[in-house]
Amino acid sequence: MPDVTLTTLQGYKQRGEKIAMLTCYDATFAKVACEAGVEMLLIGDSLGMVLQGHDSTLPVSVADMAYHTACTKRGNRGALIVADMPFMANATLAQALDNAATLMRAGAHMVKLEGGAWLGETVRRLADNGIPACVHLGLTPQSVNVFGGYKVQGRGEAQARQLLADAVALEQAGAAMLLLECVPSTLAAEVTRAVGIPVIGIGAGAGTDGQVLVLHDALGLSLSGRVPKFVKNFMTGQSSIPDALAAYVRAVKDGQFPAPEHGFSA
Ligand code: KIV
Ligand code: NA
Repeated sequence: MPDVTLTTLQGYKQRGEKIAMLTCYDATFAKVACEAGVEMLLIGDSLGMVLQGHDSTLPVSVADMAYHTACTKRGNRGALIVADMPFMANATLAQALDNAATLMRAGAHMVKLEGGAWLGETVRRLADNGIPACVHLGLTPQSVNVFGGYKVQGRGEAQARQLLADAVALEQAGAAMLLLECVPSTLAAEVTRAVGIPVIGIGAGAGTDGQVLVLHDALGLSLSGRVPKFVKNFMTGQSSIPDALAAYVRAVKDGQFPAPEHGFSA
């Protein structure tokens, strides 16, 4: 068991301490992030873009995810490790259980799935089998071809009600955590108040229980040259990567990051 557990994170939510999460794909960065005070490491399928150079996350396989989860685990110093279920890894219940087991055996403590209330049964069966699940709502990049681009989600009354209803249904189904990507800051705060489980945000304003960034973004590195508005370069004013990651953790804990300009309007 890691030093940071689900119980630890529940306590953070209850007393209003912000959770600092970063993506991580290897052992050295895992150690450095832990020493900087990062509580959760996410092996994101963003590795398809930042490590593999693809233009979306769709080409990433379960084997890719398991490999980077195992690498991260070896450098981990007490953080809770979350591994993404990649594109189509949970298309059926049987696949979901099998692929989640592969990621847990590789070193994950929790898996993350992109979707909505329709994941309820999957989340329930994972939990029954000892696998905590985080559900990623809002802009779910594996659905970029359905959305017609990387666009803010949950705008307008109907979409906002739907997202809130999904969040509540998933908590009832046994989700351990939620992650909101690119949704209006006001909606993210409302979702965070509506559920008892921790809610992590990216491009979702300062009202969530914690924040996550892609490691490369936080270090000011960009392959495409397009930097999303919710990203901040924490190398600015720092002279080393460990200092930059410590600055990220401090900014999350102090409520300095994200600032209003990093968020989206309703
Ligand atoms: O893959 C990833 O890095 C993610 C985060 C952006 C939340 O899912
Ligand atoms: Na992801």
